[in-house]
Amino acid sequence: MHDILGIFDSGVGGTSIWKEIHKMLPAEDTLYLADSANAPYGEKSKEEILRLSIKNTEFLLDRGSKIIVVACNTATTNAIDYLRANYHVPFIGIEPAIKPAALQTKTKKVGVLATKGTLSSSLFHNTSKLFAEGITVLEQEGKGLVELIEAGKVRSREMRALLEEFLRPMLAQHIDCLVLGCTHYPYLLPVLKELLPEDITIIDSGEAVARQTKAVLEKNGLLRTDGDAPSFIFYSNKDVEVLKSLIDCPKAQVSYLDF
Ligand code: DGL
Repeated sequence: MHDILGIFDSGVGGTSIWKEIHKMLPAEDTLYLADSANAPYGEKSKEEILRLSIKNTEFLLDRGSKIIVVACNTATTNAIDYLRANYHVPFIGIEPAIKPAALQTKTKKVGVLATKGTLSSSLFHNTSKLFAEGITVLEQEGKGLVELIEAGKVRSREMRALLEEFLRPMLAQHIDCLVLGCTHYPYLLPVLKELLPEDITIIDSGEAVARQTKAVLEKNGLLRTDGDAPSFIFYSNKDVEVLKSLIDCPKAQVSYLDF
């Protein structure tokens, strides 16, 4: 049966997208794959990111996914074209939200915090060129952030120090929008809000991805209609405790799986 909404990420970060999807589509069965044993993807080559994305996709397809949400900017920007061309289900991706930031900024200076893999991708470059004309985009690689989040150290001293270091050059240039270009980063919102002046808008794409997922399911007649209680299955090939704590949903079934 092909009736599951499949989601994958390099690790626990894509659960920030799962939450938005679950809020918008509460009746859908979901299957989430956290490839935490291979995180971070952001430091890997394009070939390696593609290989892992193919592996995750085939895992989700083998278990009946009717649509796949690539809940990872790094995998989307490096692999989604290939996935769309080679597999029969619709794919939803996520990219740094340059367009909404470009529309909102008054200082004409926008910061983007993302992984090296995302910032170096041609998809990111093309999107920036298309939507950020006349705007200075200050790119900052979030080196080390994903590792700390995967280790459950969101509110640690190391995290605060890294963020302070990454935000300093952007603040010196008077950005007024900060784009979170990695699905792990919404978990940093409480710390970011402490570190950033109130007039800086933080933008992430989670809700837009959920809206797009709903629209594509509707358009393809794939919305679940049977009325049975949905299941929310999560697999990780590393630490399930961090995953569980971030999902924070009593109905989620979270297990370790060696994949
Ligand atoms: N959540 C992934 C993203 O959105 C993290 C990338 C990584 O594993 O480095 O880019």
